[in-house]
Amino acid sequence: MSELQKPDVGRFLSLLEVVPMRRKHLDQVMDIERRAYPNPWSRSIFESELSQGVTRSYIVALRGRVVVGYCGTIYVIDEAHITNIAVDPDLHRMHIGTRLLCEMVRRAWDRKIRAITLEVRVSNLGAQRLYQKFGFQPAGIRKGYYQENGEDALIMWAYDIDSAEYHERILNIEAKAGIDLESGRRRRHLWG
Ligand SMILES: CC(C)(COP(=O)(O)OP(=O)(O)OC[C@H]1O[C@@H](n2cnc3c(N)ncnc32)[C@H](O)[C@@H]1OP(=O)(O)O)[C@@H](O)C(=O)NCCC(=O)NCCS
Repeated sequence: MSELQKPDVGRFLSLLEVVPMRRKHLDQVMDIERRAYPNPWSRSIFESELSQGVTRSYIVALRGRVVVGYCGTIYVIDEAHITNIAVDPDLHRMHIGTRLLCEMVRRAWDRKIRAITLEVRVSNLGAQRLYQKFGFQPAGIRKGYYQENGEDALIMWAYDIDSAEYHERILNIEAKAGIDLESGRRRRHLWG
């Protein structure tokens, strides 16, 4: 169980910090991973991903020192592949997943990425709804992709994420969710 109570969403989000995932976060990441997935990644998969350097971006959402969610991406030339996203099951529907995806998109913009893809269980309609908000569209099926039950994966793509329209989409998502990543970005820009 998370040690956090479900608080006011706006205030909660304003106190969230998103930072690069480090090995020191992995105990908490693994706790969420095991509760989030029927076939969780092993700790060594995370360790391997964290050792891959600039071809990867793994981030955690922190409330104080408590990890409440995480997201990982592989970059290949001008494309990004979201490999994993999970939020503490006790804290779903509080826009933590949204915050993580907004951060991932901003990191993708910084790297001049033009398209993002991911796989999602065909039965995982909640996650698909979240991805649709970020402009992901179904693009195909990987038959029997999930080994433990043979479930198919839906392949989704968001294209032209470097376009003005897509920027507008993300700014709207952030505004609706009360996420303010622009001012932090401006501050970082001004103060280095
Ligand atoms: C998918 C996941 C990361 C979403 O995280 P979250 O923090 O709960 O998502 P958010 O609160 O940001 O959701 C944003 C929107 O996505 C949609 N959404 C998210 N989860 C949903 C659900 N279970 N059912 C319906 N819609 C959902 C809603 O439109 C939601 O907005 P609303 O709450 O204002 O209606 C989380 O459910 C999770 O960790 N699931 C287990 C792991 C997993 O399935 N990962 C995806 C693998 S591809």
